[in-house]
Amino acid sequence: MLLAYNDNGPGPVVVLLHGFPLDRSMWSSQETTLGSVYRVITPDLRGHGQSAAPEGAYTIEAMAEDVIETLDALQVTEPVVLGGLSMGGYVALALMARYPERFRALMLIDTKAEGDTPEAARGREELASTVEGAGNSGAVASAMLPKLFSETTRQRRPELIAQMRTVMEKTPARAVAGALRGMAMRPDRTAELSQISVPTLVLVGADDAITPAGAQKMAEAIPDAQIVIVPDAGHLAPLENPQATNEAIIHFLQGLD
Ligand code: MLT
Repeated sequence: MLLAYNDNGPGPVVVLLHGFPLDRSMWSSQETTLGSVYRVITPDLRGHGQSAAPEGAYTIEAMAEDVIETLDALQVTEPVVLGGLSMGGYVALALMARYPERFRALMLIDTKAEGDTPEAARGREELASTVEGAGNSGAVASAMLPKLFSETTRQRRPELIAQMRTVMEKTPARAVAGALRGMAMRPDRTAELSQISVPTLVLVGADDAITPAGAQKMAEAIPDAQIVIVPDAGHLAPLENPQATNEAIIHFLQGLD
């Protein structure tokens, strides 16, 4: 499926994949900061933002194929830098496994390689059914928002939290259910990490309650990886502390050339 996207800036391509159930607007600070030097492409994954929302489970593999189809349509065939936050990171790991020749560096942000435990998968199914029953995504926003942000963000950036609620509530119930079911089905990719041969930045908010241990494990298992822990940030480091996140990304990107 062809995705909606932003595509701005000159130079080497950096593709950034958003988290669940957000959209490409989460990368606006990175687009601004990187966009003078890099061509930054930020797709809306299927069902999110302005991309179409089909019925059924959105497997991580299907989302990965959408990204490839979109890059092909843009005639981006040279190896690019790939980054993903959380669900976007799951998609990035699937892309690295399927199309390693398409990527020259990887950024895994507030994400992990493990699959769901049976209990987590059951929780996702329950939430998917609730959202479908309600016909809107309010329940997912209420379930996720308390877990996403650092204490600093909660105290100082209530407007960011309200903005994220708006983005989440705009995501159609069908898409939320599809993504939840797809994430529940995703494989554990831990064993594949040692096969990743490109330079990798693992970046995680110091107060990320969703993927705290996963980041460290990925950084240890990927041969050419460095880890950056972003202060005053929870699960949404690029939004909660854009300055520290952007500095880490720029430092990493400059090291590639
Ligand atoms: C995300 O931020 O994309 C989600 O927290 C991922 C997940 O639920 O596993």
